[in-house]
This record gives sequence, structure tokens and C-alpha cells, in this order.
Amino acid sequence: MASSSLFNHALFLLSILSTSYIAHAGDPDILSDFIIPENSTTPIDGNFFTFTGMRGLLANSTNPPNFKVTKATMAEFPALNGQSVSMAFLQFPAGGVNPPHTHPRSAELLFLVEGCMEVGFVDTANKLYTQTLQVGDMFVFPKGLVHYQYNADVSEQATAISAFGSANAGAVSTPVTLFATGIDDAILAKSFKTDVATIQKIKAGLAVKP
Ligand SMILES: *[C@@H]1O[C@H](CO)[C@@H](O)[C@H](O)[C@H]1NC(C)=O
Ligand SMILES: *[C@@H]1O[C@H](CO)[C@@H](O)[C@H](O)[C@H]1NC(C)=O
Repeated sequence: MASSSLFNHALFLLSILSTSYIAHAGDPDILSDFIIPENSTTPIDGNFFTFTGMRGLLANSTNPPNFKVTKATMAEFPALNGQSVSMAFLQFPAGGVNPPHTHPRSAELLFLVEGCMEVGFVDTANKLYTQTLQVGDMFVFPKGLVHYQYNADVSEQATAISAFGSANAGAVSTPVTLFATGIDDAILAKSFKTDVATIQKIKAGLAVKP
């Protein structure tokens, strides 16, 4: 095979790879204006495109005693299916934390609407990026990277709204994934260069739901 032909084959393979990468880089494109749920019996009108599940949250200005996230993804709001967008309402009490986690299918654009907030994420080179946000600030957590949000204020609550570029961004909690899914103690002890007793202590702490 001539080298120019080999070069063309390589280019062709590269183009296939890059095309399939793009196809999986976000939600799939749909071939209709919107997607009506299968077997839907209610008529599709403005109500289908309206989500009212956050009304109660905004009517009550006191955040719950533990960090709480209220989602509007395609599970709660079916009209988002195929639209590549979703949102979440994040409520932090004084001192509340949203533990390290990732969203496998989307970046997160956080908009702080009340209080102040410590945020951070870690890139694939293990570099940590942090910031202290004030009301009105936005922070973007790149897609798939481990990140956290923390209200360091001991007396004031904090509230944020997050937007996602996926109708189903997904959330993988780092502590839960590692210590609350039944991964063998010995494997975790070796992985974290510690002993089984320490792993069991961490597991016990996570088992207690606040
Ligand atoms: C919709 O109806 C069809 C035919 O009755 C059924 O086979 C299918 O499972 C239904 N789908 C859902 C999501 O309920
Ligand atoms: C507002 O939310 C707080 C925290 O969840 C709760 O304790 C309180 O009862 C709520 N107030 C009203 C009027 O629902």
C-alpha cells in the first residue's frame, strides 16, 4: 500500500473517531420539535412546557437544615427530553456542603442568588481550582470533573440556581460511589493506603442519613 493511501486511511479513521466523539459529547439531537411522552393521554399545550415544581421553594425563604437540591430534569419535567437543558435549585443552610461529585453528561453553570459560597473543581491533571462567590456571581464546573460547593458562613444560608447542558446531566457522588455501594473493604483499604478499620469507619458515617 502506498504511503499516501495509508495516510488517507488514517485520516478516514480519525474522522470517524472524531465524529463519534462529537455524537457522544452531549445529548443526542432529535428529529422533531419536541418529544411527547409515549402513550401521553393529556393534550399537549402550554402546560406541557411549564414546570411549577419550584414554586413552593421560592415562597419559603428559609432553607432546610441540610443541603438540599431540587431538580428539574427530564424525569421531573418531561418536556426537557431532547432539549439538552435542565436546572437545579440548591439550598444550603449555614455551614452546608454539597459533597464532591460529578455530572457525567454536562457542565454546570452555577448562579449564586443568596449568601456566599466556596466552590472548587479538580481537573484531569489533579489541579484544584477554587473561588469564593458573592451574590450575582456565576461559576462554571466543566463537564465530568469532580467539584463541590460549600457555604462556609456559620450564620447565613446560601442559595444557588444551576443550569446544565443536558436534560439528564446525572450526578455521581464521590463519597457515596466509593463508600456506600458495597466495594470490598480490603480493596478500598489498599486503594486509599489505609486499613480496613478506617474504611469501615468512613462507611459507617455515610450509612447514617441526616
Ligand atoms: C404504550 O402502549 C403500548 C401499547 O399498549 C405498550 O406496549 C407500551 O409499553 C406503552 N409504553 C409505555 C411507556 O407505557
Ligand atoms: C420553610 O422551610 C423550613 C425549612 O425546610 C421549614 O422548617 C418551615 O416549616 C417552612 N415554612 C413554611 C411556612 O412552610
